[in-house]
Amino acid sequence: MVVADLNREGAEAVADEIEAAGGKAHAVAVDVSDFSAVEKAVQSAVDACGRLDGIFNNAGIAYGKPLLSHEPERDYHPMIRIDQDGVYYGILAAARQFVKQGAGSDRQYVLDLRRTGC
Ligand SMILES: NC(=O)c1ccc[n+]([C@@H]2O[C@H](COP(=O)([O-])OP(=O)(O)OC[C@H]3O[C@@H](n4cnc5c(N)ncnc54)[C@H](O)[C@@H]3O)[C@@H](O)[C@H]2O)c1
Repeated sequence: MVVADLNREGAEAVADEIEAAGGKAHAVAVDVSDFSAVEKAVQSAVDACGRLDGIFNNAGIAYGKPLLSHEPERDYHPMIRIDQDGVYYGILAAARQFVKQGAGSDRQYVLDLRRTGC
């Protein structure tokens, strides 16, 4: 498993926990609002694991501030770049990799956990 997060130390801590529990994991830093960085993260998963079986688009931010206190560039656009563009970038990068691997396998998943409330 590849644990990808803007916070490299946090990703490394999660990867260490997975390894300590007997799994295999490594961490990469990624900014999901940067498509080329997302593509690189997908490639690093393929390099590490030989193929991509799934992507979990769960990076996200939320501002609970009242609307009238918003400054659009500070409070709205980052959410769109991370929560919306980031999910789209993850889906696109994963889908391209799935096609390279041979689309149609029953082992290829795209999940957006934020929509499940998890
Ligand atoms: N926790 C909940 O109950 C809940 C419920 C519904 C929706 N959500 C939504 O799910 C998302 C995640 O919630 P959470 O509770 O896991 O939040 P969290 O803050 O615990 O985790 C979010 C993670 O995303 C990472 N991140 C932030 N910006 C990033 C970027 N640009 N690139 C890569 N990683 C980035 C952070 O470093 C952090 O590790 C949020 O959008 C939140 O609004 C959460």
